[in-house]
Amino acid sequence: MGIETEFRAIVVDRTENAEGKKAQSAALRVVDDGFLMPGDVTIAVDYSSINYKDGLALMGRPGVVRAWPLIAGIDLVGTVEQSADPRWSVGDPVILNGAGLSESHHGGLAERARVSGDFLVRLPQGISAVQAAAIGTAGFTAMLSVIGLERGGVTPESGTVLVTGAAGGVGSVAVVLLAARGYQVHASTGRIDELGDYLRGLGAVELVDRATLSEAGKPLQGQRWAGAVDSVGSVTLANVLAQTNYGGTVTACGLAQGADLPATVMPFILRAVSLIGINSVEAPLPQREEAWRRLATDLDLSLLDHLTQVIPLEAAFDAAAGILAGTVHGRTVVDVRR
Ligand SMILES: NC(=O)c1ccc[n+]([C@@H]2O[C@H](COP(=O)([O-])OP(=O)(O)OC[C@H]3O[C@@H](n4cnc5c(N)ncnc54)[C@H](OP(=O)(O)O)[C@@H]3O)[C@@H](O)[C@H]2O)c1
Repeated sequence: MGIETEFRAIVVDRTENAEGKKAQSAALRVVDDGFLMPGDVTIAVDYSSINYKDGLALMGRPGVVRAWPLIAGIDLVGTVEQSADPRWSVGDPVILNGAGLSESHHGGLAERARVSGDFLVRLPQGISAVQAAAIGTAGFTAMLSVIGLERGGVTPESGTVLVTGAAGGVGSVAVVLLAARGYQVHASTGRIDELGDYLRGLGAVELVDRATLSEAGKPLQGQRWAGAVDSVGSVTLANVLAQTNYGGTVTACGLAQGADLPATVMPFILRAVSLIGINSVEAPLPQREEAWRRLATDLDLSLLDHLTQVIPLEAAFDAAAGILAGTVHGRTVVDVRR
């Protein structure tokens, strides 16, 4: 294999000791094109990003990677290098979020990728490659969540909306998107002292201490929210549902507090609250294209730049540890060529 086909990649591998105990770990490696999986489109990757799931994969935690060895990274942004798919040509700038990346197919934390053309989205005019990576799965999910609220009939006139996990990737972009649409956004965070100014800068009009939502509460509570974007799950989501106005809509995409949902049916049957699930990974192409179209028109890119930091490939491990420890905020882009 020629040297020109070699590229750097963060590879997750799994080992099994004599007792059958499995351990997963990730390392920066040099691999070549022979390592790539089948796919119609080969991409020169420029950027990936660090989402919560990337934190899990890079720190050797189970639950994301399901085939080994596998290149990590649930996002990629790059340029088509070769294509056997008539929809894509050499030189096309493309985005891929989820769709099995870093789960069953090699992901974006590498200088090259070979994927199916089925879930690729063209980089929208006006968004740079680094900004598309800053949006990444987190921002795409935030957009899907906002679209979910809109479909649920939540308008800026309906009342206040809540974003939980607000300083995180999904939360930060959701605050920006909702505030720009004219919603009164309250942001729930565990870091009011440290990041209150940051969240107000993104457009939050009030901050909610997440501790007020994280302990079990009554099945129905005072009505506070016309809608909510939740990335936290568990007791927090149960309390948010219990505080949602009659006819309101809540979207659920995450499990930062936990995967459980210790709620009752009361908000649904007595207040006609709707709970909408968001799954970015398997979102069909038309939904992806709609969300990226909306991101191109709705997202304030200067605020996006403000909430983004760009790091080189080998710094992805520290960023992964940071996202699991809850010490990073906003979005972290990985420049895979640096
Ligand atoms: N369904 C999907 O398609 C989809 C897509 C993307 C992400 N997700 C999920 O959504 C969640 C957020 O992802 P992300 O990439 O935005 O991660 P992130 O950047 O780590 O954000 C998560 C935020 O949740 C808050 N948080 C963390 N631990 C908490 C706890 N124990 N109790 C309450 N709040 C807590 C923190 O916000 P504060 O510091 O402000 O409190 C943290 O910044 C993850 O669970 C992720 O797996 C799902």
